[in-house]
Amino acid sequence: MTEPATNEFPEPATLRLFFALWPDDATRDALNRTGKWLHQHWGGRPMRVETVHITLAFLGETPAERLDDLVACADAARSDGFELILDQAGYWRHNRIGWLGASQTPPQYVELVGALNAALQGAGFPVDSRPHVPHVTLLRKSPGGEALACKPVRWPIGDFVLVKSATGSEGAHYDVIRRWSLA
Ligand code: 2AM
Repeated sequence: MTEPATNEFPEPATLRLFFALWPDDATRDALNRTGKWLHQHWGGRPMRVETVHITLAFLGETPAERLDDLVACADAARSDGFELILDQAGYWRHNRIGWLGASQTPPQYVELVGALNAALQGAGFPVDSRPHVPHVTLLRKSPGGEALACKPVRWPIGDFVLVKSATGSEGAHYDVIRRWSLA
């Protein structure tokens, strides 16, 4: 008698997820040039070139059956497109991250993050209660260093994405699983 077919690699019950701004190729190149420059000054472990992003809302381990609810939250969170100018190198001692941020946060960014978090909270997803600081992590495990003035990176934002994160032997691997256009 033959065994019934089994799925050798079943879908995991939970997915590690976050909403993010994901760079186009030109912006990714510019971010990675800044990452190289920052690494020369502050050391640490540079992010792999394909992984640079800005997290809008971090969900962590999420039951796979709640994906449709997450999609509905993102559908409800709208803002106009905008340009983000990343012009500040920052360092957080508590997690030893070197990052690139914006001295001026555009109102559309604040609107998008606010709308997304409100929808997530309304649907019962965990939301971060700490103030949101828009940042691109460029270095991990960095000792930091002297304050630096950096060349601004201009990032045209036309969409946002839902990302699935998996941890492999080379660190985190990110898959963009869905994309929403901004008006
Ligand atoms: P970070 O770069 O500042 O660490 C994937 O881990 C993304 O989610 C990263 O951009 C990370 O920000 C962000 N993130 C936010 N909160 C997190 C948390 N509690 N644990 C892991 N990553 C988190």
